[in-house]
Amino acid sequence: MQEGNRQWRLVSYPEGMPVETNWALSDGVIPEARANEIVARAIYLDVAPYMRGRISPQRNYAAGVKPGDVMLGGGIGEVVQSNAKQFKPGDIVVTDFSFGWQQYAALKSSAVRRVEPEIASLPYWLDALGLNGMTAYFALIEAGRIKPGDTVVISAAAGSVGQIAGQIAKLSGCRAIGITSSQEKVAFCKDVGYDDAINYRAEADLVAAVARACPRGVDVFIDNTAGVIHEAVMQNLATHARVVLVGSISLAGKFGQPDVGPRFHRQTLIARATIKGFLVSDYQQDQAEARQRMAEWVKAGMLKSKFDIAKGIENTPKAFLRLLTSQNLGKQLVQIADEPKARST
Ligand SMILES: NC(=O)c1ccc[n+]([C@@H]2O[C@H](COP(=O)([O-])OP(=O)(O)OC[C@H]3O[C@@H](n4cnc5c(N)ncnc54)[C@H](OP(=O)(O)O)[C@@H]3O)[C@@H](O)[C@H]2O)c1
Repeated sequence: MQEGNRQWRLVSYPEGMPVETNWALSDGVIPEARANEIVARAIYLDVAPYMRGRISPQRNYAAGVKPGDVMLGGGIGEVVQSNAKQFKPGDIVVTDFSFGWQQYAALKSSAVRRVEPEIASLPYWLDALGLNGMTAYFALIEAGRIKPGDTVVISAAAGSVGQIAGQIAKLSGCRAIGITSSQEKVAFCKDVGYDDAINYRAEADLVAAVARACPRGVDVFIDNTAGVIHEAVMQNLATHARVVLVGSISLAGKFGQPDVGPRFHRQTLIARATIKGFLVSDYQQDQAEARQRMAEWVKAGMLKSKFDIAKGIENTPKAFLRLLTSQNLGKQLVQIADEPKARST
């Protein structure tokens, strides 16, 4: 009997915090590869905070998913059919956005990269060697213009972007301070190399906690969350600080509404700070070189990631919701099938 293609389709735009019933699991057909396409069988699917913005009718930097559509997302898969000369059945490939929450996907060859398991195990290609690795790298090095000796504060520090960013900051000679939600995650941040980490849920006065951890002020702030963490760090900026707005996950439950809070006009003026909105796709042309550099660090054991892996396509929305409720530690993925055994050539 021919296997089907189980797919998660968006049913409705969430009102506030997404819930599992915003999606429904359906049975689809396994697609055929057209010219310059491959068909891949999912091994790992990505879930990531940016997906919150894609399941909303609000204005965004990229097109969203409409009710009825298969949910978008990156993934790693094994090629099972190829109509593209660069790929053959058995190859392992990764795509940043095009896989979708499904077991099989037809993918344009231009939208996939080859996974090289001899450089790093498969999950790394959706983490340090994927979008989030590129985000951490370019947010710090290009947008944040980090230099040795800088104090760098990173929020969502025990997540995917956060764990990578902390390590890159250290490899670049900076002092890295993480902000995260529990003592377990604080300990994890210190294990991966952060000089110090703050549990934002345990601090009655987060402004003072940041001041204690950053006595000379914050030179670079990688803001992954917005909200109260943003407020606390903005009141601790050093002269000529660079604030990089990377994500706003704390607003996932009130998407499309303003982030209400104090304004930082005067703090920004006094510090002559720069505030920059960041989008990793703006650095597309430099990503191959950055990925090469990251791959060398990973291969040399200088950059390591922790993974939080849910199992089975039926758990994909649950895994996504873990991100929005601080349950993940390290990079959250969903494993859809066993990894293929290494082939001898
Ligand atoms: N702009 C870009 O191009 C780009 C590209 C990739 C990622 N990003 C952004 O980078 C950020 C991290 O993404 P990721 O994939 O690495 O996810 P992640 O950090 O692995 O997971 C999300 C984390 O967000 C934190 N969080 C959830 N709700 C929160 C709240 N109410 N207040 C504060 N923190 C909260 C949690 O960490 P705690 O346990 O610390 O609360 C959670 O573990 C996201 O904002 C994402 O949108 C941006």
